[in-house]
Amino acid sequence: MNPVNTKPYKLPDDVVWLITGCSSGIGRALATLVASKPRHRLIATARNPADLAYLPDDNPNILRLPLDVTSPESVNAAFAAAAEHFGDGETFHPDVVVNNAGYSLSGDTESATEEETHRQMETLFFGTARVTTHAVRAMRQHLNKRGGIIFNVSSLAGLCAFPGHAYYHAGKFAVEGFSESVAREVHPDWGINVCIVEPSGVKTNFEGHSKARTQPHPAYTAADMPARKLEAYVNMGIKSGAGMTEPSAVAEAIYAVASRGERVPLRLPLGAVAWRMGKARFEGLMQDFEAVKELSGLGAQL
Ligand SMILES: NC(=O)c1ccc[n+]([C@@H]2O[C@H](COP(=O)([O-])OP(=O)(O)OC[C@H]3O[C@@H](n4cnc5c(N)ncnc54)[C@H](OP(=O)(O)O)[C@@H]3O)[C@@H](O)[C@H]2O)c1
Repeated sequence: MNPVNTKPYKLPDDVVWLITGCSSGIGRALATLVASKPRHRLIATARNPADLAYLPDDNPNILRLPLDVTSPESVNAAFAAAAEHFGDGETFHPDVVVNNAGYSLSGDTESATEEETHRQMETLFFGTARVTTHAVRAMRQHLNKRGGIIFNVSSLAGLCAFPGHAYYHAGKFAVEGFSESVAREVHPDWGINVCIVEPSGVKTNFEGHSKARTQPHPAYTAADMPARKLEAYVNMGIKSGAGMTEPSAVAEAIYAVASRGERVPLRLPLGAVAWRMGKARFEGLMQDFEAVKELSGLGAQL
């Protein structure tokens, strides 16, 4: 397979950042960090721009825009407004684009409705794909081949699948495959890097603010059902905060990857839980592969 992110990335002094989902949590922490850097330019976006009031409104280096990732018109309009403000209307170069917007559809898969499941995939996958495509186009067209980084916020849930969140995992797994393919598709000389960010639990209000739930299904209510056991375990973890990362630490890690002047990793598990569980997942896969070696045809030369 062709390598990805082959050259070290140098963050320009007058870097332009574009971040989705800046109303709260990780997006807000990253927007706040970028806004604190004197020469950096920031396009902070949210479904409701009133949620961006925490950013100064008298700084020409900060542009606050409405952006709903599920709407192609909204994404087009945001890129056009950004080009108007930070470009010459036609050429506009976002150096770092962060696809952060997301929510989780949780609950019993059997009772998930068509509308619920499509909305989940539309936000997590198509929203990320839409903004990524705009970003690649804008980065590719820059005459000086300035390149850039696209950070796609996946999750530990993009590496491992747990019970009771099938469509959230589907959306994040889709982001992983899409991102890796795009990273391999761009020409190395374009300097476009892709980084898939995979946090485990982060101390945001994701559970309260960004969790949609399916109707409980009567066949899955018993306390010994895997999804109910996981819920009880996760609720205990959220209450204690043990093993969870601060949103500011996620923001700092993304900033460090962008600014350290080194090769950009394709995957960035964040938090000890993400790193350990991700590693265990791949080790388990290797054992599974060994167990089916004969069936796979290595013995019989299928
Ligand atoms: N918290 C965790 O434990 C954790 C772990 C791994 C990965 N993640 C991922 O991290 C990302 C950020 O989550 P968070 O923890 O910071 O939660 P959060 O504080 O609830 O933030 C979610 C953000 O996504 C935005 N959003 C949702 N749908 C959108 C849409 N259609 N268009 C534009 N923005 C939209 C929300 O905007 P509104 O205010 O308008 O709803 C909000 O700004 C998500 O992709 C999540 O899957 C979180």
